[in-house]
Amino acid sequence: MAKLRAVLIGATGLAGQQFIAGLKNHPFIELAGLAASPRSAGKTYAEALRTANGMTAWFISEPLSPSVAGMKVISGDAVQAKDFDLAFSAVEADVARELEPRLARDIPVISAASAFRYDDDVPLLIPPINAAHAPLIREQQKRRGWKGFIAPMPNCTTTGLAITLAPLIERFGVKAVLMTSLQAISGAGRSPGVIGMDILDNVIPYIPKEEGKVEVETKKILGALRPDGSALSPHDVRVSCTCTRVAVLEGHTESVFVSLGKKASVEEVVQAMREWKGVEVSRDLPSAPPHWIHVHDDPFRPQPRLDRDVYGGMNTSVGRVREDGVLENGFKYVLVSHNTKMGAACGAILAAEMLRAQGLLG
Ligand SMILES: NC(=O)c1ccc[n+]([C@@H]2O[C@H](COP(=O)([O-])OP(=O)(O)OC[C@H]3O[C@@H](n4cnc5c(N)ncnc54)[C@H](OP(=O)(O)O)[C@@H]3O)[C@@H](O)[C@H]2O)c1
Repeated sequence: MAKLRAVLIGATGLAGQQFIAGLKNHPFIELAGLAASPRSAGKTYAEALRTANGMTAWFISEPLSPSVAGMKVISGDAVQAKDFDLAFSAVEADVARELEPRLARDIPVISAASAFRYDDDVPLLIPPINAAHAPLIREQQKRRGWKGFIAPMPNCTTTGLAITLAPLIERFGVKAVLMTSLQAISGAGRSPGVIGMDILDNVIPYIPKEEGKVEVETKKILGALRPDGSALSPHDVRVSCTCTRVAVLEGHTESVFVSLGKKASVEEVVQAMREWKGVEVSRDLPSAPPHWIHVHDDPFRPQPRLDRDVYGGMNTSVGRVREDGVLENGFKYVLVSHNTKMGAACGAILAAEMLRAQGLLG
């Protein structure tokens, strides 16, 4: 069977580069087009990555393949839906707001950007949690008169949090969540990014708009599709967080406190996470890890450097699971989740795989 021809918009950025790595040798998706800003248009991909001082801004540890390096980059504005079967979008929200609906009239757009995350007819898919939300795409197509659709990925800080909450909600219920993040520099992208002078030897205690995103998105991801399929009812969990930036290259660490719906022991909480398999349709997808959550017994784990790349960066690593004596039925733990892999590009590829398995990708 012919592979689906995908165009990648925002191909030169950090999330875009991770898409290129994630789509290498993909069983049914072919990277058929690369797009970026007008600044990069007309250059080969390798030329577009070159900075003013001549450095090639390839960020991924595996080498850039010569076939991708030589591809011509087109401007996002010039991407024509008729040339592709689907689009992956890794641009900032303001660009996505213009560009994604134009393409979604005809082809599916799976996006790392936040522009449409909060619309009523848009699901926020994390395949092992909420595959059941995917049919909301049909409602979106009906309302907007589109042949395609927009399926945005959640904010990268929300992903690991939602994944660890899902098994706790299933077994015990969760009433409230407090979270402090220690987020990697790559999460800020290249442009404008984080300046080395500001982040080295430092912690920045504020990431604009991040906390609101985590609080709203967690409830949406963990919510339920209404019986008539017209919208999602958010989960009633209360979420409050502080998001900080730390001098780590990749992998967001989060310190989480949860108030469970009923009493449990540490062993039961650990067991719930270890045994969680996610919904069935998500299990055999090409990008799915063998386990969604790995719980460490070693109190010195998880650490971003050691744990972010477990199972190709698709796993959430958890450790330090303890009782908390302040919250009702309180527990606390630390997690690490890969922000540009599961939290962006590879999570989007996983979502495309699931939508295809559900017959929704066209
Ligand atoms: N980094 C992460 O960990 C992460 C995680 C989850 C979600 N996201 C989301 O993913 C998106 C991309 O983030 P990033 O970190 O990859 O940012 P980035 O490194 O700054 O990359 C931005 C990309 O957008 C392109 N671009 C800029 N203006 C454009 C235009 N008018 N038309 C087409 N392309 C344009 C840039 O191309 P040029 O090189 O030509 O300027 C570049 O390829 C954002 O929405 C971000 O919130 C990022």
